[in-house]
Amino acid sequence: MGKDVIVACDFSSAEQVFTFLDKFKERKPFVKIGMELYYAEGPEIVRQIKARGHKIFLDLKLHDIPNTVKKAMTVLSGLDVDMCNVHAAGTSAMMKAALEGLTRPDGSRPLLIAVTQLTSTDQESMEKELLIEKPLDQVVMSYARTAMEAGLDGVVCSPLEAGKVHETCGKSFVTVTPGVRFADGDAGDQKRVTTPAKARELGSDYIVVGRPITAAADPVEAYNRCVKEFVG
Ligand code: C5P
Repeated sequence: MGKDVIVACDFSSAEQVFTFLDKFKERKPFVKIGMELYYAEGPEIVRQIKARGHKIFLDLKLHDIPNTVKKAMTVLSGLDVDMCNVHAAGTSAMMKAALEGLTRPDGSRPLLIAVTQLTSTDQESMEKELLIEKPLDQVVMSYARTAMEAGLDGVVCSPLEAGKVHETCGKSFVTVTPGVRFADGDAGDQKRVTTPAKARELGSDYIVVGRPITAAADPVEAYNRCVKEFVG
């Protein structure tokens, strides 16, 4: 699995994202388009960023009945994204349906990644609201195993969980990990953070980095620094 840095383009308009992407003249970053940008600009933003030569992780975290997810995934696979995702909590049946919907007539498809337990959920809210009593790390590993058995390519998780996910699901099962900060940077609202170098050491395949790059005084320099630390 080729390691790469995915830049979370958490902007609310096409204008902002293009002003940002215009700064990158050499290496074109792998871009994450989340709900904010997608809901603001629609599928056209995906086509436009793709046309500029970027790989795209479309982070829409689908979670619905299998038939609905399957049909939505067919639409997304037509957008020619490189990676997209669903919630593992949608169950194995939903993940399998997502894979079916995503697979194009020629057999090709984007990578499909499962969101395990959101990092905004803690043990207490899981127990009190979701009635899940097992320890959080066991819940994450169980979701990862179910995703692997359903045929998905990997999971979104903390870099701190990447090693254990690889132990449980195999080396080629992809780990996509947010929560990355430079050693001298501001953590912001992220609680458990690691540096790009540490994420590499822990076995992450892709790091998702937003504000350390998008809010940097020199985003290209920050991106290059990330790539150097993480990819080598
Ligand atoms: O700006 P920052 O580097 O914190 O951005 C991280 C990105 O990864 C954001 O787009 C955020 O929504 C996403 N993410 C996350 N934690 C998760 C899942 C996704 O930070 N568990």
